[in-house]
Amino acid sequence: MPTLLHVDSSPRSASISSQLAGEFVQQWQRRNPAGAVIHHNTSREAIPYVSEAAVEAFFTPAGTLSEEQKRVLALSDRLVDELLDADVIVLGVPMWNLGIPASLKAWIDMIVREGRTFAFTQQGVRGLLPPGKRGYVFSARGGAYPEGTAAGVLDLQEPYLRAILGAIGLTDVRFVHADNQSCGPQAAADGVAHAEAAMAALLA
Ligand SMILES: Cc1cc2nc3c(=O)[nH]c(=O)nc-3n(C[C@H](O)[C@H](O)[C@H](O)COP(=O)(O)O)c2cc1C
Repeated sequence: MPTLLHVDSSPRSASISSQLAGEFVQQWQRRNPAGAVIHHNTSREAIPYVSEAAVEAFFTPAGTLSEEQKRVLALSDRLVDELLDADVIVLGVPMWNLGIPASLKAWIDMIVREGRTFAFTQQGVRGLLPPGKRGYVFSARGGAYPEGTAAGVLDLQEPYLRAILGAIGLTDVRFVHADNQSCGPQAAADGVAHAEAAMAALLA
């Protein structure tokens, strides 16, 4: 049974990134009626920041974990399992202060785990996600960040997500941006129309 993991991160009920990611997931469900979808919205779930106890547990070999450490790792383990089980990973991501919301970073800090989603090797970090998974990121941004422009240098959202997802082995990731959401109604609508067209091309 194909499985899709859908992670939104905007708290807004009128969120454009959540709307786009949701449309994509609906299309996927139409094509995969027997498929399973797991949904999170990190802005509405209390994913904790990594504590000292969690850091220690993260780097303790599985066989020697205390009962307390297993408890500390329970949420992280569940989120990692969801990621490992998923064939398709869909993120809805608002650009906040040039990057991603802190709540999405909290989820990332739970799923980037040595020995589970990446390994340190003599050649550096090696991703442990099985090959064949595909990622889709639907972002909404107040402005626009075209590559090769002065504004493009300020985009710390796509490069960061590409880098961290790549580090755990998710290298096949498509980005769709709805730009100019803070630039007036026409520019915002054009940004969404552009993103919808890009999504349709991905689904074609
Ligand atoms: C806290 C906050 C920070 C933001 N920072 C940026 C930013 O750095 N660059 C930008 O282009 N837009 C920024 N925006 C605008 C959002 O990216 C835009 O409103 C987008 O539509 C939010 O996504 P959403 O509709 O999915 O909530 C920010 C908005 C908020 C609320």
